[in-house]
Amino acid sequence: MFATINGIRLAYYQRGKANETTLLLIHGFPLDHRLWEAQLRGLSAEARVVAPDLRGHGRSGLTPGTATMVQHADDLAALLDHLGIGQAIVAGLSMGGYVAFAFWRRHRERVRALALLDTRAEADSVVARAGRDAAAAKARQAGAAAIADEMLPRLLAPANLANPKIAGAARRMMAEQPVEGIVAALAGLRDRADSRPILSTITVPTLVVVGEHDAITPPADAQAMAAAIPAARLVTVPGAGHLSPLENPRAVNAALRKLMIRLV
Ligand code: MLT
Repeated sequence: MFATINGIRLAYYQRGKANETTLLLIHGFPLDHRLWEAQLRGLSAEARVVAPDLRGHGRSGLTPGTATMVQHADDLAALLDHLGIGQAIVAGLSMGGYVAFAFWRRHRERVRALALLDTRAEADSVVARAGRDAAAAKARQAGAAAIADEMLPRLLAPANLANPKIAGAARRMMAEQPVEGIVAALAGLRDRADSRPILSTITVPTLVVVGEHDAITPPADAQAMAAAIPAARLVTVPGAGHLSPLENPRAVNAALRKLMIRLV
């Protein structure tokens, strides 16, 4: 389905019943709603599960220079308006977590609970910022497949990298992203705010999830982030790397179900 909001067509996918709690699932970079296929399927009996493609990703549109975390957060608030949803459990993975922080800053009255998966609160370092520009140049020159090949080994736990079903799904999703979207997302990632100062303001029930083999946002970082959020619980996902919803969907679905039970 598509919603025309904030000057673009935003693609979104939903399962479950309109009168249930909404679980809003925000994917990472350079991915799309397919990251959450097992959650769309597995949690639709107990929630209304909504998984958008952020602008510049998947089948969503893009206008130049707009793929900031703030713009993504405003797009998601507009999507909730479009769907007639007041509050949602807001769950974001990696870049989706950065968007969730922006959403908390700008629309916190709409957050019933937060789930922060394989993400971090820090902004990019000087070195990381330069890396974003180098990756953007590579995307322009060599295309999305080159970015997918470069990123894949760091995204998955070693055993999952050797699993054609999991590795194939992750690689395909990345290789299919539009180059302009990748370039825009890299600028948005590079310029995002430091969210550490707002961690202590997060007063809603919060779940922090991290893959035990996450090499990009490792368990120690997740522990520190969870310790700084007043109502956070930390779940470490066995056998998973950075893409825990895809790598160990059963454990991630169980953790999200527990978060929902905390709310009743
Ligand atoms: C992601 O998975 O969204 C990215 O790895 C985030 C990042 O590069 O900071």
